[in-house]
Amino acid sequence: MQNTQKPIFGNPLTILVVEDNVVDRKVLEKMISESSENHHRIKTAGSFKTACEILEKNGVDVVVLDLNLPDSEGMTTLTELNERFPKAAIVVNTGAYEDDVGLKTMGMGAQDFIVKGKYQAYGVNKAIYYARERKRFELELQEAYERLQETQSQLIQAEKMNVVGRLASGVAHEVKNPLATILFGVTYLSEKLNYNDEKISLTLKSLRESANRANEIITDLLDFASLSRLNKKEENINVIIEKAIELISYQITKQKIKLVKEFASPSLLATLDRNRVEQVLVNLFLNAVQAMSQGGELKIKTSLQVSDEKNKDFPAGTKVAVVEVEDAGCGIPEENLNKIFDPFFTTKRAVGGVGLGLAVARNIAQMHQGKLSVSNRPQGGVKAILSLKV
Ligand SMILES: Nc1ncnc2c1ncn2[C@@H]1O[C@H](COP(=O)(O)OP(=O)(O)OP(=O)(O)O)[C@@H](O)[C@H]1O
Ligand SMILES: [Mg+2]
Repeated sequence: MQNTQKPIFGNPLTILVVEDNVVDRKVLEKMISESSENHHRIKTAGSFKTACEILEKNGVDVVVLDLNLPDSEGMTTLTELNERFPKAAIVVNTGAYEDDVGLKTMGMGAQDFIVKGKYQAYGVNKAIYYARERKRFELELQEAYERLQETQSQLIQAEKMNVVGRLASGVAHEVKNPLATILFGVTYLSEKLNYNDEKISLTLKSLRESANRANEIITDLLDFASLSRLNKKEENINVIIEKAIELISYQITKQKIKLVKEFASPSLLATLDRNRVEQVLVNLFLNAVQAMSQGGELKIKTSLQVSDEKNKDFPAGTKVAVVEVEDAGCGIPEENLNKIFDPFFTTKRAVGGVGLGLAVARNIAQMHQGKLSVSNRPQGGVKAILSLKV
């Protein structure tokens, strides 16, 4: 006959009892297994080290944790376990008469607590299920908070781009005509004036160079503001990569950069604006090369991936063409990481950097409903990942 006294709170769970006192461990095990209709999977550990080994190998729902173990003491046991296994719910098993300690653990990562000598079967089972539910809500809340932060920063970035785009296009249009007059005048004077005078010819040369540079910046700005016009066709990304490499081959040779290509297949097709994606790649390659003034390896890797549920940028099941660009350069200081996509942020002003490369590149990726991310590699240098829907 069924014992109707036994509680059933939900599905059977995998529970890890961490307790060095054998008697306490047996009591707990018995209470959990015999006092519920659910056939839980119960694992036990007598030390912190064993507990971690079990958690690493198995998916554990709830840990019933004694804080004082042979190899770990007090609150450190809780905080360390929580840090290493943030998804496991924890019920702290405090010493007798330590209700206040139990309460304190609730603010330090535990989801519930039981007090030695005071627990009974129903209470223990209830604490276990309560802890698991509470952990689930905590994780959901955390995820929602992260999504909110991400959306907020995307909105701020979009607004920045919008303002800069409008400003840039206004200024660029105004400056373009007078600049054309200057360029025309310099060319005219160069033809008419006496070339034997070295000072005059040097002055004209430097005027022409400066005007050309200004013209390039203005063209960049106009480009930046006119990204809404894309000319998309089905293209082979590998071919675009080769073309972009060709455009910077001079810098690659000059700086003795070792180029390593890892293409997943001979052809990686996606619908995109060829010139714009080439522009993104040139910007990424140039940044990589510029970061390796002492030489180094530039690695370009392509792959076709299918996004899963964990991917926040594409719906699950989307086919995505991924280009990874890695360098072994100086890397990006931590404090600059959230500024590198800002229009006009540059650490290369002295050598002609404008700070539009990554801002434009990310804008182009987003116009394709794609994604561009840049981060430091653990081994040094930077990794940029461009993902485009196939
Ligand atoms: N691969 C990299 N390694 C190190 N720092 C990088 C790398 N890529 C970008 N950065 C940092 O990000 C900043 C912004 O890059 P971005 O390409 O937007 O502008 P820029 O290269 O300075 O100028 P330009 O407009 O000529 O591209 C750079 O000045 C540099 O500090
Ligand atoms: Mg750049």
